Amino acid sequence: MEIFVSILLLIFAALLLFFAVSNLISILSGAPAVSSNRTLSKEILKLSELKKGEKFYELGSGFGFISRYMADHGARATGIEISPFYTWCSRVFFWQRDDIQIKQDNIYRSNLSQADIIYCYLFPKVMSKLESKFEQELKPGTRVISQSFKLPNKKPSRTINTPLGSKIYLYKY
Ligand SMILES: C[S@@+](CC[C@H](N)C(=O)[O-])C[C@H]1O[C@@H](n2cnc3c(N)ncnc32)[C@H](O)[C@@H]1O
Repeated sequence: MEIFVSILLLIFAALLLFFAVSNLISILSGAPAVSSNRTLSKEILKLSELKKGEKFYELGSGFGFISRYMADHGARATGIEISPFYTWCSRVFFWQRDDIQIKQDNIYRSNLSQADIIYCYLFPKVMSKLESKFEQELKPGTRVISQSFKLPNKKPSRTINTPLGSKIYLYKY
């Protein structure tokens, strides 16, 4: 019995350590894992003007719920997430969905040239690094939606004020 309890405690401690290290990786990579409020999904969908079959990329996808919402409305969704904990949780959540792919990668290294729509909920420093990547990589017509944080130099095509008091920015390339 004692061995059984010790093994359970060991597994629990290992999971806790995995969770803590994963969160540290998120923070050190540029943005902590805070999920977008689900009530904003509708606003994001409307702004995106998604057409069936378009490729939607969520940069720093966390649990991937925005990717799932967009896939539920016809997108082929790709979540890119650096933290192993969130990558594996979302892979488990969506294992039966072939319209949602979760990649464990650093967004700065990912190829974004196929994206039709990009969604970010990241920090100002990250947005500033992404701006030149977007300029170089995105094809004409790509829409970028950013929650709360602007691209430093590009003028948004639309800005909406959310019921939660935050802003969502739409950029067209
Ligand atoms: C604020 S959360 C947003 C989560 C999700 N997109 C949402 O809106 O619910 C930011 C996420 O970006 C991830 N992240 C931060 N820097 C990253 C990087 N360089 N490459 C990939 N993911 C990153 C974090 O691990 C975290 O899960």
